Amino acid sequence: MAESMTRGAEEDDMPAVRAVAARFGLLRGWPSTRDFLDAERAFGTLVLAPTADDQARGFGGTLRRGAITHLGDLFVLPEHQSSGVGRTLLAELLAGDGPKVTFASSDPRAMSLYIRYGLRAWCPLLYLTGPATGLPGPPVREARLEEIAELDAHAGGGARADTLAWYASTPGVTRHATGQGYAFARVSGDEVVIGPAGGATPRDCTEAVLGALAATTRASGAETTPRVARIAVPGVHPLVSPLIEAGWRIGDLDTFMADDSALSLIRLDRYVPHPDLG
Ligand SMILES: CC(C)(COP(=O)(O)OP(=O)(O)OC[C@H]1O[C@@H](n2cnc3c(N)ncnc32)[C@H](O)[C@@H]1OP(=O)(O)O)[C@@H](O)C(=O)NCCC(=O)NCCS
Repeated sequence: MAESMTRGAEEDDMPAVRAVAARFGLLRGWPSTRDFLDAERAFGTLVLAPTADDQARGFGGTLRRGAITHLGDLFVLPEHQSSGVGRTLLAELLAGDGPKVTFASSDPRAMSLYIRYGLRAWCPLLYLTGPATGLPGPPVREARLEEIAELDAHAGGGARADTLAWYASTPGVTRHATGQGYAFARVSGDEVVIGPAGGATPRDCTEAVLGALAATTRASGAETTPRVARIAVPGVHPLVSPLIEAGWRIGDLDTFMADDSALSLIRLDRYVPHPDLG
């Protein structure tokens, strides 16, 4: 049996939480000054299962989009798994009645726990990787945060202006817009991550993603030009087919899970989540 104690993460707990996150390779690509765990603590909920000596057995975190709770993380160290720690953390994180969504890993324990909160498995979420250059994209302009916030709320199912403003001020992040679409890009080393992105229609979303990709690689100086691009795309999104046809690879895949009320809010054919922020 797990010691069933969990608690909200305070600033002092962050090294212990990050130690667990680092064991799972979750912080790769984030600057050392800020990462998505800061966002979960600031704009959602971050809880840990502490040990007697103030380390962590595991942690979990959520972010909010309007009424939706996005479960971003649930991780328990291998030596503490299968003893109720994950279940206890989840009870803290998903206690409310509101709509819920998550990207479940292939660990059957994760999906089994989420199903108990009314979440259902709807489609794969494909973590696609490909060359950063070579795909044609339409021209884009720099997007204002207010217009992004509105399009993002429409495609992603709820407003989260604070999280988007936080992400926009993260080193390497740029904001792009087409007519009715938006896309964030973040360059770090030789990689660019696109997302969140969305649009009024599936086509708007696709154009914003391709436009942001082209603009990011065009704008970068020779030394910082990203070589590799990463995009998390719902399996039902029209972007999947052209990217696979262009030779992109499925690096990993999760399962998009949502309860019925969240599914009715999120538009999976016109939304490209950020891998860590949803
Ligand atoms: C997934 C994870 C967070 C679960 O936490 P945990 O502390 O190991 O899990 P718990 O012991 O609290 O609960 C696991 C449940 O899954 C059930 N389970 C185990 N194997 C199962 C299977 N093959 N099918 C269905 N249910 C299964 C167990 O019976 C248990 O339920 P119970 O407590 O009602 O008996 C943890 O194992 C982990 O960190 N895995 C690796 C990282 C990961 O993939 N995280 C998920 C990210 S979405």
